[in-house]
Amino acid sequence: MKAIQGDITALRTDAIVNAANRALLGGGGVDGAIHRAAGPELLEACRKLGGCETGDAKITPGFRLHAKWVIHAVGPVWSGGNKGEPDLLASCYRRSLELAVEHGARSIAFPCISTGVYGYPVEPAARIAIDTVARFADRVAAAPETIFCCFSQHDLTVYEQILRKNG
Ligand code: AR6
Repeated sequence: MKAIQGDITALRTDAIVNAANRALLGGGGVDGAIHRAAGPELLEACRKLGGCETGDAKITPGFRLHAKWVIHAVGPVWSGGNKGEPDLLASCYRRSLELAVEHGARSIAFPCISTGVYGYPVEPAARIAIDTVARFADRVAAAPETIFCCFSQHDLTVYEQILRKNG
C-alpha cells in the first residue's frame, strides 16, 4: 500500500477506480478524465450496467487506458457525517477490492473518492481508505497491491502522514 501524486489515467495498474455517480454515465473530475482517456467505448459499456448504488461498485474493461479494468465506485455525498457517509465510503473501497480479486487484478489504484465534488473532508476520507484496504489485505490472500493516487500535493501529504503512523 502506498500513496503517490499523479493522474490516475496514466497508471499501469491492472485496475483503476473511478469516483463515479449512480448513473455511471460520466461526469466531471476524475470521472471525466477517465472517460476521456478510455474513449467512447467506456460510456457504451457503462450504459449496459444500469447504474450503481452509493457504496457499491461495478467493473468494465479499460479500453484505451493502460489499465485492463476500470472499477466504477459510487461514493457518498458528504452531508455532515451523520448520514452513514463513513460506512458508505468504506463499502466503496471494499466492493472495489472484491471486484478486483474476482477479475484477477493484482494491482489497483484509487483516487480520493468523494473528496472532490462530493465534499467529503480529505483527512477522514483518507483514514477510511487506508483502514479498509489494510483490513481487506489482512483477510484476503489475493488482495491486490494498492496505490492511492492523489491529485494534489496536499492530499498526498495527508495520506503519507496516516500511512507513516500506521507503520
Ligand atoms: N487523477 C487522479 N485524481 C483526480 C483526477 C485524475 N485525473 N482528476 C481529479 N482527481 P471528484 P467525487 C481527484 O470530484 O468527489 C464527478 O462528476 C480530485 O482532485 O472527481 O467522488 C462524478 O461523475 C479529488 O481528489 O469525485 C460524480 O458526479 C478526487 O479525484 C462526482 O464527480 C475525487 O474528486 C463524484 O464526486
